[in-house]
Amino acid sequence: MTDEIVLDVEHLQKDFGKFQALKDVTLQVKRGEVFGFIGPNGAGKSTTLRVILGILRKSGGQATLFGEDVYDQAVTVHKRIAYVPGDVYLWPNLTGGEVIDLMLKMSGEKHNARTDELIAKFQLDTRKKARTYSKGNRQKVALIAALSTDAEFFIFDEPTSGLDPLNEKIFQNEVLHLKEQGKSVLLSSHILSEVEKMVDRLAIIREGTVVETGSLAELRHLTRTSVSVTTKQAMTGLEQLAGVHDLVATVDNGVTKSEFMLDGEKLADLMAQLSTLAVLDLKVQPATLEDVFMRYYNDANDARAEG
Ligand SMILES: Nc1ncnc2c1ncn2[C@@H]1O[C@H](COP(=O)(O)OP(=O)(O)OP(=O)(O)O)[C@@H](O)[C@H]1O
Ligand SMILES: [Mg+2]
Repeated sequence: MTDEIVLDVEHLQKDFGKFQALKDVTLQVKRGEVFGFIGPNGAGKSTTLRVILGILRKSGGQATLFGEDVYDQAVTVHKRIAYVPGDVYLWPNLTGGEVIDLMLKMSGEKHNARTDELIAKFQLDTRKKARTYSKGNRQKVALIAALSTDAEFFIFDEPTSGLDPLNEKIFQNEVLHLKEQGKSVLLSSHILSEVEKMVDRLAIIREGTVVETGSLAELRHLTRTSVSVTTKQAMTGLEQLAGVHDLVATVDNGVTKSEFMLDGEKLADLMAQLSTLAVLDLKVQPATLEDVFMRYYNDANDARAEG
């Protein structure tokens, strides 16, 4: 990854009539970077991608790809990008192979050795009519066409939603291959585990606003650790320790069991406190990033319930 910013989205807004689908979307994707765009259904992922693709016109803010405005310079910009939408539409009467070739032609390229390699990898039967394909097979057709182009920037909207685990793995390897070649990739998903293995950085979008951006490691700082400690003496002063939440202490046979959540960076402070006590048992379980996301999802649900 270089420091060169390829995609620059600043305070992007998009209204559909009175409804503000995008309120404040800011993200930057660097050259050679795989960037994840995560959020619940209806958060604004596809809308953001459509604005970046020049399909929709923004209502406010800025979006540039390779330094050019994504809408005004859409034709020039498009020559350098490849896109696979979430719901792939194919011409029903063409075979999968014909669709792939047509898609390549439309992006000014030809069926090449990479195309054959990808067809073999994804094990797609290209002789069948597109109308007979399952969702996963339609997705494969579009992925094969996109991955065999020589684009610099790849945009995938929920790319693995229709793929089984084996094909998902093949796709993940292809994305890493793009990265090795210095290409940039923007991936949307509502499932963190789908993109966790591929992404360098990610942004979380909620109700049209990007609420967090960073590397997985940076976002992990947002997580709390779950701690369960059993001590011979009563543990005093835990409530006063900064970073301790939801403390529950139970005493059984003179043994105190304290269970609580701890802010990620406060572990050292806790250990210092524990060192003076006779600790019988200690369990420290880091919250997964999935927990962080669930927090955002729950908040989104609460907002929906209230609204
Ligand atoms: N053409 C449109 N006209 C009106 N509202 C729209 C339009 N397209 C999207 N929206 C609304 O904008 C919001 C964001 O939609 P978007 O499709 O971007 O969400 P998403 O994050 O891609 O969700 P999903 O995970 O379900 O694909 C939704 O409330 C949606 O109903
Ligand atoms: Mg979508």
